[in-house]
Amino acid sequence: MDRIRIKGGRPLNGTIPISGAKNAVLALMPAALLGDGALTLSNVPNLADVQTMTALLRELGMGVAHDTAARTTTITGPATAHEAPYDIVRKMRASVLVLGPLVARHGIARVSLPGGCAIGTRPVDLHLKGLEAMGATIAVEGGYIEARAPEGGLRGARIIFPVVSVGATENLLMAATLAKGDTELVNAAREPEIEDLALCLMRMGARIEGIGTDRLRIQGVGALVGGEHPVVADRIEAGTYACAAAITGGEVLLGGARLDHLGAVARVLREAGVGVAEEPAGLRVSRMNGLHGVDVVTEPFPGFATDMQAQFMALMCVAQGASMVTETIFENRFMHVPELARMGARINVHGASAIVRGVPSLSGAPVMATDLRASVSLVLAGLAARGETIVNRVYHLDRGYERLEDKLAAVGADVERMK
Ligand code: EPZ
Repeated sequence: MDRIRIKGGRPLNGTIPISGAKNAVLALMPAALLGDGALTLSNVPNLADVQTMTALLRELGMGVAHDTAARTTTITGPATAHEAPYDIVRKMRASVLVLGPLVARHGIARVSLPGGCAIGTRPVDLHLKGLEAMGATIAVEGGYIEARAPEGGLRGARIIFPVVSVGATENLLMAATLAKGDTELVNAAREPEIEDLALCLMRMGARIEGIGTDRLRIQGVGALVGGEHPVVADRIEAGTYACAAAITGGEVLLGGARLDHLGAVARVLREAGVGVAEEPAGLRVSRMNGLHGVDVVTEPFPGFATDMQAQFMALMCVAQGASMVTETIFENRFMHVPELARMGARINVHGASAIVRGVPSLSGAPVMATDLRASVSLVLAGLAARGETIVNRVYHLDRGYERLEDKLAAVGADVERMK
């Protein structure tokens, strides 16, 4: 099991290229199930989760060809099978995103229930209720979702989400493109990855209005074609490396990153004393003077991203003053806290909120990762800590961060992967 060894205390300086977004490509790849022609994605990140989605699409009979040098992926169909097996879905919850496209295009899907994960129970009830509203019959049997479209195919519907759900918005947006009639998604998620998916579907011939807003209107069409689409830059990777620059007191250019896609994260970083400036090549992030404690509450986009909560908490561990971090999206997303505490952080968790009292410095220690963003928050703490930090179970990191140690070493970090 690989580990990452970090010797802290070195300010980061230089340019970090930001890769295509994990949470965009994991929705764009299943979109290929909808079209008659080949879908070619560019700026595809080389991530473990992309490999898992590749295996799932191949399991469904799709052709998936990666050109890692060109960083493109071409996906050809049609699907010849309609079952997403448990052993793939349990590794990656985003597998559930094949459900909507399969039911819309082939009228049938059998997808393992994703089950919970480290950060919460993560139900898919909104995905299923939305498909039922479009006329599908859903049965849950033996841990599997069995979904069937009615004879004439799915029908357009007006769907109001009681809570904002990225995955449910994506599944139903894809399903609606081939439904008979019009669909309206109300209280839809507005994350940039959904805007990216909608733009790709439009290129494939879909008719979508309200892109980027919380009200999407989709006019169903008879068929979609293939197309080409560049994966949007990863705003969470960009935010993560912004925290790395800030926590080490360095200055980094995040190549290809977009300020508008950081949402409230940019405002909060600036309030904490971090410079975030837009340039043609990307975002320049630097620590101005001292870091101050700032309170954050995670919210759907454009609020402060839950996927940035652990990373920001690591930063607040060495700020002057206190910070209240409140997690409103997931019920168990503070697993980085005990590990940060082993490095000398002062954090008290009370329900959905954690009080962080800044300390002058952290001390390196062997720590253990439990989920993707908790893992990277430990790397950030290690970059700032005195001495050596060993982060175990880095397979979590490989799911969502491409060449993390290379990108950090290239801007001056003393970091290496140990087999
Ligand atoms: C996506 O997960 C992301 N994953 C997550 O990123 C991200 O944290 C999350 O959106 C929120 O932004 C991908 O895009 C692959 P949700 P998703 O449906 O779609 C509840 C990372 O680290 N809910 O927006 O699963 C749910 O329990 C990962 O990259 C229901 O109640 O998240 C949660 O409390 C972690 N019923 C809230 O909604 C449903 O049917 C938000 O979940 C669906 C969701």
